Formats: sequence, C-alpha cells, structure tokens
Amino acid sequence: MILIIGATGTIGSLLARRLAEGEVPFRALVRRKDVPIEGAETVVANLDEPNSLRDVFTGIDQVFLKTAGTSTDEGPVIAQQKAAIDAAVAAGAEHIIKVSAQGTAPDLPIPFGMHASIERYLTASGLAATVLRPSSFMQNLVGGITTFTKEGEIFDTYCGGAAAYVDARDIADCAYAVLTGRVPRGGVHTLTGPQALTAAEVAAALSTALDRPVKAVQPTYKELEAMYQQLGLAQRFAQQLTAMAKIIAAGGIADVTTAVRDLTGNAPRSLETFITDHREALEKIIPIRHP
Ligand SMILES: NC(=O)c1ccc[n+]([C@@H]2O[C@H](COP(=O)([O-])OP(=O)(O)OC[C@H]3O[C@@H](n4cnc5c(N)ncnc54)[C@H](OP(=O)(O)O)[C@@H]3O)[C@@H](O)[C@H]2O)c1
Repeated sequence: MILIIGATGTIGSLLARRLAEGEVPFRALVRRKDVPIEGAETVVANLDEPNSLRDVFTGIDQVFLKTAGTSTDEGPVIAQQKAAIDAAVAAGAEHIIKVSAQGTAPDLPIPFGMHASIERYLTASGLAATVLRPSSFMQNLVGGITTFTKEGEIFDTYCGGAAAYVDARDIADCAYAVLTGRVPRGGVHTLTGPQALTAAEVAAALSTALDRPVKAVQPTYKELEAMYQQLGLAQRFAQQLTAMAKIIAAGGIADVTTAVRDLTGNAPRSLETFITDHREALEKIIPIRHP
C-alpha cells in the first residue's frame, strides 16, 4: 500500500489523480476530515503531532513525502518530515519518495538547505529512498502569492536569475513511474523543464501567448527583502529568502536535465504548453492594459 503525504497540495493532488486513474490503491494522510481524495482511503493526522501518526503507516510499503515549503526560519518542515520518516521506519515501510528541491545543499539558507538535511536523515534511516529535486514549479505562475504585482507584472523574486521551470504534472508523473515500479526506485533526480528562463523571458512568452503586454519588474535585493517583510515575515527569514534569490541569480537552479524524460519516457512539458493549459487563470491574473 502506498501512503501519500501532501495529497491536497500542488504535486500531491496531481499524483493522487494519476493513482486514482490508474486504479492503484493508496492511502492519503490529510489534516482535515472534510477533504475527500478521490480513489484514496483517507486518514486524518498531522505531521506536527507525531503521536497522531501511529496508525497511519500500518501496512504501508511506500511513502510519497511532500509538505509545504517553510514559512519561518526555524524550518518546521524539517521536524515534520523527520517525524514521517521515523513513523515509516517504525511501521516497517520499505521505500520513501521525497520531494526535495533543485540546488539544495547543506549549509544553505533554510528554504533551500532544509531539504539537504532531510535527505541526509532519510539516507541514514536505512529505508530505500528516491529523491526528486524539482526546479521552480511553472504552477507558481498561477498560485504563487509573490509572482505578480497588482498590475499583473511579474515581480521577479529571482532578481534576474534563470530557473529551469518544471511543470508539477511532470513531477507527479515521475513519482507515479517510481511508485508503480515502471522505473527502478532509488537515486537523486533533478527534475527540470526543457529550458532555463529568466522572468523577462517568461514575461515575453506570456505576452506572445496571451496577446497582451506583460512586463517583469526586477527588484534590488534590498527591495526584495523589504517586500518579504511587508508580507509579515520576520526580518531574519526575509534575509534568508533574499540570500536564496542571490543563489538563484548566480545560476543555482538553472541547470537543465533529462530526468523527466528518463523517468517518464516523455519530454518535459514546455512553458508554452503550461500557458496554453492554464490560459483562463492567467488571463484573469494578467489584465489587458490599454495605453
Ligand atoms: N514551489 C516551488 O517552486 C518549489 C520548487 C522546488 C521544491 N519545492 C518544494 O515542494 C514542496 C511544496 O510542494 P507543493 O507546492 O506541491 O506543496 P503545497 O501545495 O504547499 O502542499 C503542501 C501539502 O502538505 C500538507 N501539509 C502541510 N503541513 C502539514 C502537516 N503538518 N501535516 C500533514 N500535512 C501537511 C498540506 O496539507 P493541507 O491541505 O492540510 O494544508 C498540503 O497537502 C516544498 O517542500 C517545497 O520546498 C517547491
């Protein structure tokens, strides 16, 4: 039996749909009772409360582990994911697929570095482990709270850096291929789209596809940090997110790989395909401006 953690999130919901369509039995850990996940047996638990996890992992062979990105500089995600790994070990599970992040490495600021420390903990757990390290999600364009200004301009939180944007549908497809044994488990896979793009290049692609002018606004690092503080983040965390932007501006998530094709047999989806498939949502976010 497969356990999906994060089945209501961006990647998790896409993976849950794939499993339901493929009639693969799975269990979903959810925090609220009133969240039905099609095709799943749901169990209510919370990774912040390790005691709630005791029965969740009973009979589980494989775990898909993904939670939200961190929202504080203390990185609650580290404790949450370690609790899940401990519960998997205690229940005798065999294999975990962990969603990490492209460019993660020990000693980097928490939003980046947290994944490397969880990966290390996973390796030490003795479980078979498959690590998926996606680049920035194309889905941030429709769901990210800092992606667009009120005027519909891209607010470039990567400060001029390029990202090898990947479609979350490809991440889910990779997880599906590993979970269902279509490709061998194990390894660290950096999942990217077909090319690395700057915010200005994303804006140009949106302009062409949506037939309206789209601009990218590039803040200075000081302006970026101030924006994060205006959103209510503590100064130290705002500084960490800004340090992350500097790493990205220096090319930290710009390498393009063949991993999506290697795992799924299909070429990674392009930004143009993403825009076509999310046209309606994007047209609402980016208004037509009349000169
Ligand atoms: N966005 C990017 O560009 C990007 C790039 C690379 C890597 N990543 C990584 O990808 C992950 C985020 O993926 P996503 O955007 O698909 O996630 P998401 O949409 O934010 O979903 C997070 C999921 O985790 C669940 N969750 C959160 N806290 C929980 C807890 N205490 N107990 C149980 N479940 C909990 C949420 O459940 P509820 O519905 O109950 O909230 C939700 O299902 C992060 O680790 C991030 O670092 C993101």
